[in-house]
Amino acid sequence: EDCRLKMIKSRIRDFPDFPKKGILFRDICPILKDPGALSAVTSLFEEHVRGQFQHVDFVVGLDARGFLFGPLLAQRLGVGFVLVRKKGKLPGATVSVAYDLEYGKAEAEIQEDAVSPGHKVILIDDLLATGGTLYAACALMHQRQVEVLSCLVVVELKDLNGADRLKPHPVYSLLQY
Ligand code: PRP
Ligand code: HPA
Repeated sequence: EDCRLKMIKSRIRDFPDFPKKGILFRDICPILKDPGALSAVTSLFEEHVRGQFQHVDFVVGLDARGFLFGPLLAQRLGVGFVLVRKKGKLPGATVSVAYDLEYGKAEAEIQEDAVSPGHKVILIDDLLATGGTLYAACALMHQRQVEVLSCLVVVELKDLNGADRLKPHPVYSLLQY
């Protein structure tokens, strides 16, 4: 396990002052270029979810980088994948919520019929910073009376205390900075 985490960590690049001065941007693109690293990420998530939860209805991924990891995990778990998108991208009846993030503002949205009351879901994104994005997704799930079992991220930026903001929902991160 330690060996897999080391491999994944070696596939994260740091960019100072992106997209704004003062932000140290952790770039996960090299993970996607390396099939071994991408598969290790998926396996670690799968093992965690299988070990912790009896039943999962959907994996719910956050726009945009949650879409890179979410469907792979959903397939491994044998469940469907649902998209939480930035506002204005999804057709039909939708539910939305506004939120702040580390370097801006946005609005998250799901299709009303994407999930149903009583469903149990796993939320997934590439990275947890302030937690604004995942908090918004949790709020959307609550609006739909859906239970969030856990929030999965590849990278957690500890200094920004995102996990506190998401309480009582558990956060599972592969790498912490
Ligand atoms: C980034 C990242 C997370 C979020 C984390 O996405 O991929 O979704 O910010 O920040 P937070 O914990 O402070 O909310 P971004 O909003 O930059 O959008 P993108 O995925 O479309 O690039
Ligand atoms: N990297 C990628 N996405 C992010 C970051 C970061 O450091 N901070 C907020 N979203």
